Amino acid sequence: MKAIRFSQAGGPEVLEFVDVDLAPPGPGEARVRHTVIGVNFIDTYHRSGLYRLPLPSGLGTEAAGVVEAVGAGVTGLKAGDRVAYAGALGAYAEAANVAADRLVSLPAGVSDETAAAALLKGMTAQYLLKRTYAVQPGQTILFHAAAGGVGLIAGQWARHLGATVIGSVGDDGKIPLAQANGYAHVLNTRGGDWVRQVRDLTGGEGVPVVYDSIGRDTFAGSIDCLAVRGLMVSFGNASGAVPPVDPGLLSARGSLYLTRPTLASYTRNGRELRETADDLFAAIAAGVVNIAVNQRFPLSEARAAHEALHSRATTGATVLIP
Ligand SMILES: NC(=O)c1ccc[n+]([C@@H]2O[C@H](COP(=O)([O-])OP(=O)(O)OC[C@H]3O[C@@H](n4cnc5c(N)ncnc54)[C@H](OP(=O)(O)O)[C@@H]3O)[C@@H](O)[C@H]2O)c1
Repeated sequence: MKAIRFSQAGGPEVLEFVDVDLAPPGPGEARVRHTVIGVNFIDTYHRSGLYRLPLPSGLGTEAAGVVEAVGAGVTGLKAGDRVAYAGALGAYAEAANVAADRLVSLPAGVSDETAAAALLKGMTAQYLLKRTYAVQPGQTILFHAAAGGVGLIAGQWARHLGATVIGSVGDDGKIPLAQANGYAHVLNTRGGDWVRQVRDLTGGEGVPVVYDSIGRDTFAGSIDCLAVRGLMVSFGNASGAVPPVDPGLLSARGSLYLTRPTLASYTRNGRELRETADDLFAAIAAGVVNIAVNQRFPLSEARAAHEALHSRATTGATVLIP
């Protein structure tokens, strides 16, 4: 089969579209024939070496498709079942062997494209807004990268939960899209004093929670946006890793909390994975969140997808078609 592989960390040019052999599924695994593959910012961290992988390696952690075969000991799944996964490495390929307990069955109303675009990003929005910090009606919150893949889902969901959502973008051209997806106020982090704007929008109080996936460029400003005893949720590093933090900063700014969550630790076992995915699928079915697939590339052009993501040119979700 064809797959994207890379043998050294670097820019999008290290990605190669090559022929590889796929073994039959091992014990506890199912082989999934991919129909649509999700592109996520974490794929760029793996490729660049910010998150180190043993090389050579496959890439990508999210796809939807059809079960082709199951390995020894797999029950509850059979050839022909529609499934998706988020979190197993090697998704940039025509097929993959995936641990059966990491596969989510797709409801009839969720298309393969929606699943590949939304499973990882939507489950992330789910745990961030409901479990890392349970957003309450009437609260005003700040969510960075509002027009991105996670951002467009989170804006809609947070508004549905009753929050007034402030979003950030890096380009004024993305403001209308963010506004149409739940954000009451949209600030530009590449122009203007966005920290002052957040303070002004909250009567000087600050927000109870900031969701910051931009990392290095926004971390300090996000801390300054928090109300006393507020929670800083640092969940990504699109602009680079956050430098070490002195706990004294949290006390000086008013007994703040800081967490650095991952989807893996909020979907630790089959039950948590199913509950999180079911909540997302219910939100999609109810129209609480609409999934925007705004970029599609052939699998062979994964490099171009990475260039678009890296250059901040994308909005919503990006998918690869094998
Ligand atoms: N911890 C977790 O569980 C978890 C799970 C999923 C995703 N994430 C994180 O959530 C974030 C969003 O993921 P996504 O896949 O939906 O990506 P995305 O939001 O579609 O793309 C990243 C966005 O970050 C913004 N950005 C700011 N500074 C940037 C820079 N220097 N270079 C590139 N982009 C920059 C850009 O938006 P603007 O130009 O509008 O600022 C860009 O569109 C990522 O940081 C990702 O790592 C974390």
